Amino acid sequence: MKVFGICCGRKNGNTEILMKEAFKAIQEKCGAECSFVRLQDAQIRACVGCETCMVNHLKGNWDFRCVHKTGSDHFYFIEQQMRQADAIIVSAPAYNLLPPGILIKFMNKLHASGDYREVVHHNNKIGATFTLGGTDWTNYTLAAANMLTMELVGSYEAVVDKCHFDFVPSVGAIVLEEDMLARIRQLGGNVADALLAKEKGEMPSYVGDPGLCPDCHSPFLEKRADGWYCPQCLTKAKLTMENGELKVEFTPEERAKNRWSFAGQEVHDNNIRKGHKKAADSREYIAQRRKEYADYMDALELPELVKE
Ligand SMILES: Cc1cc2nc3c(=O)[nH]c(=O)nc-3n(C[C@H](O)[C@H](O)[C@H](O)COP(=O)(O)O)c2cc1C
Repeated sequence: MKVFGICCGRKNGNTEILMKEAFKAIQEKCGAECSFVRLQDAQIRACVGCETCMVNHLKGNWDFRCVHKTGSDHFYFIEQQMRQADAIIVSAPAYNLLPPGILIKFMNKLHASGDYREVVHHNNKIGATFTLGGTDWTNYTLAAANMLTMELVGSYEAVVDKCHFDFVPSVGAIVLEEDMLARIRQLGGNVADALLAKEKGEMPSYVGDPGLCPDCHSPFLEKRADGWYCPQCLTKAKLTMENGELKVEFTPEERAKNRWSFAGQEVHDNNIRKGHKKAADSREYIAQRRKEYADYMDALELPELVKE
């Protein structure tokens, strides 16, 4: 069995120390082979928005590569590690309340991973996520990192645990936090248990903090014109007051429409197709208007860079 970790903190910093603590617990319980990548050392070229991968995805053509060819950055090296892994742990420190940009850059390229998503939909890898911050200014960090984990393992059902730690600003200071180290060992143990259960043909189940949404377990609600939703799954919530307490429920009917379900993804793909069709029907008009905007103003010319 193989476990692959994605880290995007400092070299031998808090995130990496936690990842190694999780690995120790995994190895003790199930002997899995563990490795991780330090994204801060990796070259991940930013998605240029050409949408080659999206267009191929919509056609059901998996046999394509990103315009940033294999070997021109580390995306496909990491993708290979993901393919070989039975479990993937995504970790991130908070940068401006979010995971670091390098993790988002990596996530932006996932469409270019050909049939990877198809493979994980059927193969059910195990996932887990942990994040931490220097203070408690960390609101979106865990939810955003956990979305990446879900994408890498195919569904929220396969993400068995997630946790977050606040108030660890100094490099390596996580070693002072026995309760946090214990919690991450527990996360590692939960990943190992899920791997062992999977070997027996059992489905993985989530054992982390319940959160609000029963699918992504995030703590968020979003107000829309027709009600309240889980912003991650786009599942409509039913809100009631019970003894002065707000009660949040998600019915099975609404959960079935979850944006990450096959049906939800089909709606999403069809919306993109509809948008492209609308634009294709007015191709000449769009070209003329784009030219007007292009002629109106160009972006600032960027200065030459100094080679380091
Ligand atoms: C650019 C940058 C932005 C940061 N933004 C936040 C933040 O919004 N909230 C927070 O709690 N910590 C923030 N931090 C602190 C890190 O999350 C914290 O130092 C963490 O321990 C780093 O983990 P590491 O040792 O694995 O690199 C930021 C750090 C950097 C470098």
